[in-house]
Amino acid sequence: MKTILISGGGGYLGTQLSQFLLKKHKVIIFDKFYFPWILKNKKKIKNHNNLSFIKKNISRAKLNDFKDVDIVCDLNGISNDPSSELNPKHTWKLNFNDRVNFAKLSKKAKIKRYIFNSTCSVYGFSNKKVFESGAKRPISTYAKANLKAESFIYKMRDKNFKVNSLRNSTLFGFSNSMRLDLVINIFVLNILKKKEITIDGDGNQYRPFISVNDVCKIYDLLIENDKLPSFISNIVSFNSKIKDIAFKICKILKSSKKNIIFKKSFSDKRNYNVGSKNFKKFFGRKLKFSKFEFEIKNLSKNLKKYKINFDKNTIRMKFYKDILN
Ligand SMILES: NC(=O)c1ccc[n+]([C@@H]2O[C@H](COP(=O)([O-])OP(=O)(O)OC[C@H]3O[C@@H](n4cnc5c(N)ncnc54)[C@H](O)[C@@H]3O)[C@@H](O)[C@H]2O)c1
Repeated sequence: MKTILISGGGGYLGTQLSQFLLKKHKVIIFDKFYFPWILKNKKKIKNHNNLSFIKKNISRAKLNDFKDVDIVCDLNGISNDPSSELNPKHTWKLNFNDRVNFAKLSKKAKIKRYIFNSTCSVYGFSNKKVFESGAKRPISTYAKANLKAESFIYKMRDKNFKVNSLRNSTLFGFSNSMRLDLVINIFVLNILKKKEITIDGDGNQYRPFISVNDVCKIYDLLIENDKLPSFISNIVSFNSKIKDIAFKICKILKSSKKNIIFKKSFSDKRNYNVGSKNFKKFFGRKLKFSKFEFEIKNLSKNLKKYKINFDKNTIRMKFYKDILN
């Protein structure tokens, strides 16, 4: 059993990851807890006796917070491109300075492995498939600050302090702290509520995706295998045209393709396709991705069950607009 501290562990990915890791480990969630959980009562979480919280701003972290911790997972920060532009100064401080300082403290505290959650947004947009060593053309403040933090933190690696940077694709799926500003999640709720999906442009633009549950499995592989070295990896399950995703969701949720509306006036030029050499090398054969149909049905069932809606708890822009302006 290891002790794992998850910074930003109260958010969309973090709440799922903490529940997943609690099966085998002690988990400490370090977070300001800006977003409410669906399971409000900690006691409803399996193995909750091994779960503890540090409710603090990341900028106020102290060496003592890392006492007895083996591994740190950093999922903190402003978590999407549009929110990062609300207050770029804040984004640079949080996503770069504060995250780098958190890594420095972790190293000082003799943490063995530091897993930095990065993003495929660091590549900007490209017509060719991009791999880890491909050109980085970050466009938003979010992508620029994350790329700079990643490169600072990765340089801190040595034999006692392993660093892994996971450049995640766009996530989807149900979580104890839902986000409804992610394309697949938006499509599913729109089918449930409005019975239609709206696509910006012709839908031919490609995007890389991975489910939250699959990302948890990847963290598990990294955490279980002490021998894995430091590396940077793109994290992708599949690439798809946006319109094909919409078609699949309609089919799974038994809605007609005629309910897909293409907003021709909006021309979305973003188009990118992500591959990975390191993913195959370090995780590839060991990982079974979850079935898309299962994830979509599970998401749809839970959105209905918990009556989750588009609001400031689920749309990061709406929340940060209030606190950053
Ligand atoms: N969700 C995606 O599709 C996606 C894709 C690629 C990368 N990422 C990255 O993965 C990580 C997790 O993403 P997510 O979707 O769970 O984001 P999220 O917004 O749901 O979670 C971020 C967490 O950080 C906390 N936080 C924010 N500012 C803080 C501060 N100053 N001090 C302490 N805690 C603070 C929030 O309370 C929240 O719980 C982020 O770093 C994000 O950039 C996410």
